[in-house]
Amino acid sequence: KKRIVSGVQPTGSLHLGNYLGAIKNWIDLQNTYETLYFIVDLHAITLPYETQQLSKATKDTAALYLACGVDPSKASVFVQSHVRAHVELMWLLSSATPIGWLNRMIQFKEKSRKAGDENVGVALLTYPVLMASDILLYQSDFVPVGEDQKQHLELTRELAERVNNLYGGRKWKKLGGRGGSIFKVPEPLIPPAGARVMSLTDGLSKMSKSAPSDQSRINLLDSKDVIANKIKRCKTDSFPGLEFDNPERPECTNLLSIYQLITGKSKQEVVEECQDMSWGSFKPLLTDALVNHLHPIQVRYAEITSDTSYLDHILAEGASKAASIADVTVNNVYQAMGFLQR
Ligand code: TYM
Repeated sequence: KKRIVSGVQPTGSLHLGNYLGAIKNWIDLQNTYETLYFIVDLHAITLPYETQQLSKATKDTAALYLACGVDPSKASVFVQSHVRAHVELMWLLSSATPIGWLNRMIQFKEKSRKAGDENVGVALLTYPVLMASDILLYQSDFVPVGEDQKQHLELTRELAERVNNLYGGRKWKKLGGRGGSIFKVPEPLIPPAGARVMSLTDGLSKMSKSAPSDQSRINLLDSKDVIANKIKRCKTDSFPGLEFDNPERPECTNLLSIYQLITGKSKQEVVEECQDMSWGSFKPLLTDALVNHLHPIQVRYAEITSDTSYLDHILAEGASKAASIADVTVNNVYQAMGFLQR
């Protein structure tokens, strides 16, 4: 079976972008592939954070995975920091990562600018090496993510090839290893729709956890009233009718896409249904669709979080399964790089 890995940071609560860009797609994949879905708590400390909230946010995120439909009898669900090999491989990989590759990363440039360049932690720069380690440890075939992770995935691929060339093949065989390539080169799986869900208050910037205004995003745990209020106040325009793909109407494209994805309708069906509508009639329709889709998730979330030992058990099982795969890879890398075997 081909293998799939992906993860989300446990910062704040998950929003519609995380869901439509990533988690929703994980659900179908778990039926066909071997899947490992983790909560990337080690990535969450790359910007200042609250120590008192990290462990709760981690557990809440795991509960949301399950509430969204991740099935622990099919997928391994675990916490990144519970599998030590992630950090170990990261160190080994960082020795093979040219610093120029990291300086080029768009997310690093944006986040470090916002945080005031010189004071930002080194981990913000080396973040993509940890992400590469998350993926390469499991010899993953595919990585389902939103558009904003594409550059990190490209770096992961280049790094895998570089390490394979530097340390794999005949050189590794001479050291007593099996030879051949050390890492599988993974491919991103970016959905055709939903890969870039935009802000409710500005159709040109993406929906994000770090945007200061909560009005800009729909969180998966928002109540009915909060959703209704956010949709009522979201940015629209004064063109007649509703349409996809008009560059002058980014908000319209975004809201129609959200409606399409959340109802499971085709684009054509949405065009036919909505082209003659006003915002006044579309907004309640979108609100209802969101509430109907998110309500069952919220009910399951409440159930899962009411029994904390259930979740602890799933996470422990997930971590031990993951570690058994990850340890093999990291041991191979030590060997290929010439370390003395323990
Ligand atoms: P994170 O936590 O920022 O986002 C989690 C997932 O949600 C997607 N996403 C979006 N998709 C569509 N529209 C949006 N507005 C939107 N905002 C976020 C992201 O693309 C991502 O798929 N570095 C990663 C986490 C990570 C990871 C990994 C992912 C660490 N290691 C290994 C895959 C494999 C991150 O910060 O995602």
